Amino acid sequence: MTTICVAGGTGQVGREVVRLAVASGHKVSVLSRHVPPVGSKKHVDGATYFAGDVTSGDGLSAALAGADVVIDCLEGQFGKAQKQFADGGGRLLGAAQLAGVGKAVALSIINCDLSSSAYYASKAAKERRYAESALQTAVVRATQFHGLVAMIFAAGAKVRLIPTFKDVSLQSISPVDVAAALLAAAVDDSQPENHSMVTIAGPQALTMREMAESWKSTTGARGRIIQLPLPGPMGDFLRAGHNLSPEQPYGKESFVSWLEKRR
Ligand SMILES: NC(=O)c1ccc[n+]([C@@H]2O[C@H](COP(=O)([O-])OP(=O)(O)OC[C@H]3O[C@@H](n4cnc5c(N)ncnc54)[C@H](OP(=O)(O)O)[C@@H]3O)[C@@H](O)[C@H]2O)c1
Repeated sequence: MTTICVAGGTGQVGREVVRLAVASGHKVSVLSRHVPPVGSKKHVDGATYFAGDVTSGDGLSAALAGADVVIDCLEGQFGKAQKQFADGGGRLLGAAQLAGVGKAVALSIINCDLSSSAYYASKAAKERRYAESALQTAVVRATQFHGLVAMIFAAGAKVRLIPTFKDVSLQSISPVDVAAALLAAAVDDSQPENHSMVTIAGPQALTMREMAESWKSTTGARGRIIQLPLPGPMGDFLRAGHNLSPEQPYGKESFVSWLEKRR
């Protein structure tokens, strides 16, 4: 049994890590700013929840006390949270070191260092904090989540137009598969280097149009599939295929089977 602290353990991926770790017999503490009510979808029975904030440092030592490993599933998507994202990771690593935690594993995004978008730059900056840490660290870089793609389609379908980006394919992955990779990295005691990095991708690379067609037929949503240009650094990143890793299809759950579970 390993004692694991999951930072961001109430989020989309974090709560799957918590669920899997508890089911595998590990002792789990969860750190997030808000403690989820018992019975809510963010709460996993058997885990212990702590309120804390990596931006201020409040509550970190209590959540990390006694942990062998910390898994960082934090997010900071917009504005100030995005600007403070890497520093928050650094603060978590510092607190983990003080608490005697042996290893830290962070979730990141595939090839984030190859994009100049501010969002991806914040991910790459956090990766560097992990690479420079005195702790043993691992970074798991994942492709886009199935939910992100479904969200783009659903947003457009509200006005009966389902957007796809020209010349873009995706190899999206389910949060459950990402959680399995994070937990495997956390309990891997054979890691020879002080820092390691692994990339994981979903089972299939599909064009956005193929995904939109599957999304329409699986959800029964109505709307016309349209093709749009995606300008800016994100468009460049996706058209270059930096979001794909056909040689590393780690995930088992396809976009369609993930959608079917949600019907
Ligand atoms: N979306 C994608 O397609 C994709 C693909 C690959 C990798 N990723 C990466 O995966 C990571 C996790 O994404 P996700 O969608 O699972 O995130 P999410 O659902 O937004 O969850 C974020 C978690 O972090 C906690 N949190 C946020 N700010 C915090 C703070 N200052 N202090 C303590 N806890 C804080 C949140 O809880 P509270 O709000 O209660 O604090 C929540 O538990 C992100 O770094 C993301 O970049 C995403």
